[in-house]
Amino acid sequence: MPTAFPDAPALERVLDLAAHAPSARNAQPWRWLVDDRGVMLFADWTRRLGDSDHDRRDVVLSCGAVLHHCAVALAAQGWSSRIHRFPDHDVLATVELEPAPPGGGSLELVEAISRRRADRRPFRGDLDAGTIELLMLRAERFGVRLTVVPSARWARDGDTVALRYGDGSPGHPGDDAAMLVLATDTDTEAMRLRAGEALSAVTLSAAALGLVTCPLTEALREARDRLMLSCELFDGQAVPQALIRLGPQSVGDPLPPVSRRSVAETTTFDL
Ligand SMILES: Cc1cc2nc3c(=O)[nH]c(=O)nc-3n(C[C@H](O)[C@H](O)[C@H](O)COP(=O)(O)O)c2cc1C
Repeated sequence: MPTAFPDAPALERVLDLAAHAPSARNAQPWRWLVDDRGVMLFADWTRRLGDSDHDRRDVVLSCGAVLHHCAVALAAQGWSSRIHRFPDHDVLATVELEPAPPGGGSLELVEAISRRRADRRPFRGDLDAGTIELLMLRAERFGVRLTVVPSARWARDGDTVALRYGDGSPGHPGDDAAMLVLATDTDTEAMRLRAGEALSAVTLSAAALGLVTCPLTEALREARDRLMLSCELFDGQAVPQALIRLGPQSVGDPLPPVSRRSVAETTTFDL
């Protein structure tokens, strides 16, 4: 056992906060095992929303997002995380903990956890110069590329957002959002996990700046669209993993929180 370790109530608070992570259709497809060596993250494949590779990708991306939320919540409580990704076939990650004073960055991000929402409404206004560069750097820390999808390449119809390669759909009038894409050099599950961590880092950083976001993977369901996007933006050398719609503000009032599973439902404590 490490010389210092958070007690069970502190870890419960951390995992309760981490559960606010975004997940595809709010499936929350993760399980935790906490023992005296650290925290282990598993995918809960029973909560997969379909049988395709796309649904598998959504599970791993969502697990990456909760992993990053967990590391942020730990950092704000004075614990730095050493993350080992896919240490074992079944284990997505193990998190070893060491005491470390909370830095300003982690406090900013932890504060954003309960404010961030997946906001599907149109966004208004222009982003400040430098915002997207900052978010690119946040994604890069995970070895994940972030770039902007040209405005002419996406469309919205009601709440549905789609990529627009080769069809005449009408674009996104009334929605000033920037569309970002997160992409990885390879399409392994380890890289999908990292893309989920980057998705969390980007959406929390945006919320900390007072911006609004919505992660999207439905629009990447078609292999043809992913390929066209990859060819146009990355010369075919990177795999689009997720889109994030980003804007300064949404139309209407702040959204209410969406419910989450309890820590008791997702976690086994073996302390
Ligand atoms: C990997 C991933 C994929 C998602 N895909 C979509 C999507 O295609 N369309 C959408 O409206 N929301 C999408 N979301 C947002 C989730 O639906 C949202 O996070 C969830 O319903 C919980 O709501 P909250 O983020 O506001 O707490 C996605 C989120 C993640 C993490």
